[in-house]
Amino acid sequence: MNTSKAPELALFPLAVEVSNQGHLVIGGCDVVDLAEEFGTPLYLFDESTLRRRCREFKDEFCKYYPDTLVIYASKAFLNRALALIFKEEGLGLDVVSGGELSIAHSVDFPLGKIYFHGNNKTPDELNLALDLEVGRIVVDNFYELELLDRLAREKRISQNILLRLTPGVDPHTHQYTTTGTIESKFGFPLATGQAEEAVNQALSASNLNFLGFHFHLGSQVSEIQPYELAMEIVLRFAQEMGKKFGFSRGEFDIGGGFAIPYTLDSEVPTIADYARALTGKLNGLISGLGLSRPRLIIEPGRAVVGQAGVALYKVGAIKEIPGIKKYVCVDGGISENIRPALYGAKYEALVANKALEVERDMVTIAGKLCESGDILVKDINLAPAHSGDVIAIPVCGAYSIPMASNYNALPRPAIAMVKEGQGHLIRRRETYQDMMSLDLI
Ligand code: LLP
Repeated sequence: MNTSKAPELALFPLAVEVSNQGHLVIGGCDVVDLAEEFGTPLYLFDESTLRRRCREFKDEFCKYYPDTLVIYASKAFLNRALALIFKEEGLGLDVVSGGELSIAHSVDFPLGKIYFHGNNKTPDELNLALDLEVGRIVVDNFYELELLDRLAREKRISQNILLRLTPGVDPHTHQYTTTGTIESKFGFPLATGQAEEAVNQALSASNLNFLGFHFHLGSQVSEIQPYELAMEIVLRFAQEMGKKFGFSRGEFDIGGGFAIPYTLDSEVPTIADYARALTGKLNGLISGLGLSRPRLIIEPGRAVVGQAGVALYKVGAIKEIPGIKKYVCVDGGISENIRPALYGAKYEALVANKALEVERDMVTIAGKLCESGDILVKDINLAPAHSGDVIAIPVCGAYSIPMASNYNALPRPAIAMVKEGQGHLIRRRETYQDMMSLDLI
């Protein structure tokens, strides 16, 4: 086994090696064998990386701010196997739908540690959340404030809530993943006075127990300064509201958005960097503003699952346009990873059965869907690839599978978990029959 890590392995899960045969090995499993056994496209999750990231978030934030609750943002990817791991690791969960809530419930996830987000939760979803006694509902707008109060009154219960605020801070991310600016569809804007009105209404609602504020700036936020600015804005507002309405609130939820590297040249803060800076800022603001210490909530999604996941594809057609371009075509594409097409997301890749090959070929990795935009990686130096080779793309654990579709009636891929030399499916591949099973004729 070749354990010295080549630079291009840096983005793969922590448990990565190359065998003497030149095969990529993850979690002790030869990925070429896994691709053979389970078929492709195949998504792999390395259990040790997943657990390590959960622990890092808990340890690093609690080191400086002991009363921190880490809630995993399910939207990055949740299924029952992952929910069990997060439960074992003692995390809470951020859910945004009755569906995510039901997955968590199905594995007896502690419902008191669930925070229910979303800008348009339906009455059915809110009723489900109330019936299951989820820990917090993060109220996003006036419609929801009234609706939730009424539903809780009908059930004669008092529901703990946070209010989602829009602090008006630009996190400098892709515009589709920016949420903290004033024109956002999410939250009560501070600048318009609506946040203050929301506090007033939340305090006078008969069946809501208002516990604090939440904000979320966006995703893949690679700067620390926007968080610091938003924390200051929201805590100053909390102080002002405390004085005006005579209360002090127990929770402060600063959302997720922590960035991870997708390409070898990307530099983003580590979990330890975020933890040190953000808790330092929080401690400073608490003493500066004379606030009582709230519980800190953080909601990482991508930074927990991203690096743990790897996508494996089989190479089929190779199209060379002499002097212009060479396409290496794989058996998946934007139906299971829409991120390159939707956000211009960049990825690295390697030929998993040629990991020791030094020769390089400039190619573009194309998917198999009938869209010219179905390109997974544009212009990358790969070991010369041939039909039948296995391509591995790292950092595919977040927002690929949960955003997958059946476009072109492609079945969604299988997902395997690897750990200490054992690989097993945590979701089987969809079949043609699965796809037709909901059709009525
Ligand atoms: N909390 C809230 C309220 C959120 O809306 C999100 C993500 C998170 C936490 C977790 O953010 P993370 O730590 O994963 O960045 N589909 C896009 C990302 C959309 C993120 C939506 N909200 C992508 O593929 O880049």
